[in-house]
Amino acid sequence: MSRRESEHTDLPIPNGWFAVSFSKDLLEGEVKRIHYFDEDLVLFRGRSGRPYVLDAYCPHLGAHLAEGGRVLAETVRCPFHGWQFDGASGECVEIPYCKRIPPRAQVRKWDVVERDCMIFVWHHAEGKPPSWEVPEIPELSDPEWMAPRYFDFQVPVHQQDMHENNLDPVHFQFVHGMAEFPRDSEIQYGEGGRFMRVQHTSQQETPVGSFRMTLIRDSWGMGLSAVRTTGIPNAGLLMFSSTTAIDAHHTHSRWVLTATRNMADLAG
Ligand code: FES
Ligand SMILES: [Fe+2]
Repeated sequence: MSRRESEHTDLPIPNGWFAVSFSKDLLEGEVKRIHYFDEDLVLFRGRSGRPYVLDAYCPHLGAHLAEGGRVLAETVRCPFHGWQFDGASGECVEIPYCKRIPPRAQVRKWDVVERDCMIFVWHHAEGKPPSWEVPEIPELSDPEWMAPRYFDFQVPVHQQDMHENNLDPVHFQFVHGMAEFPRDSEIQYGEGGRFMRVQHTSQQETPVGSFRMTLIRDSWGMGLSAVRTTGIPNAGLLMFSSTTAIDAHHTHSRWVLTATRNMADLAG
């Protein structure tokens, strides 16, 4: 049991943008049950291609909208009595057997942005609207870079533990097989502390020679980070990740990896 658990010092779920799906995993018209930020949610993609996230339970008699719910245009239709909820507003826009729609017939809608091969949701503990934007990662739409590779995993820890681990350079050598751990990191902060850049340079042995390489890690909020490796002439490597709180004790981490095309055979 960790000290945090034994001392009951639960950390809250952080505010910010967090991925709830890879883009490729949600087809047009698809409806999915998801659970993040300790909330039951429904994720669906409207016929326009736009993704939506709503609270999961129908305000009529409480059916879970993902359990048999269907997408009609930009709405999800409840599987129980067919009420339809608009993805953008969460409002009930159709009751098939009734002309009058009760004003309280709505579910909470969440702010959603699709970018960088992922679908992001804004979480704020006090329900405040988004105060910053998900960064655009140019490599992910650059034809000089390879089609991305994806992986994801879930870990039974608080999200902050993941973030702290990212900033623990010594383990890179012993856990990840780096030739030496990065020393002399430079750290810059921006956007009032919401953005952080950590970079370190070291001599690295690679399959194509020995280079003085720089690892640049950009982080936005608690959830998003882009790690770029530079130093091999005309070549680059990018790892973009989002970590999302499932609840206060479980975290889901998603990664998108890409490299310049001239590294394709090496990157695999
Ligand atoms: S429970 Fe959803 S329409 Fe009745
Ligand atoms: Fe690690």
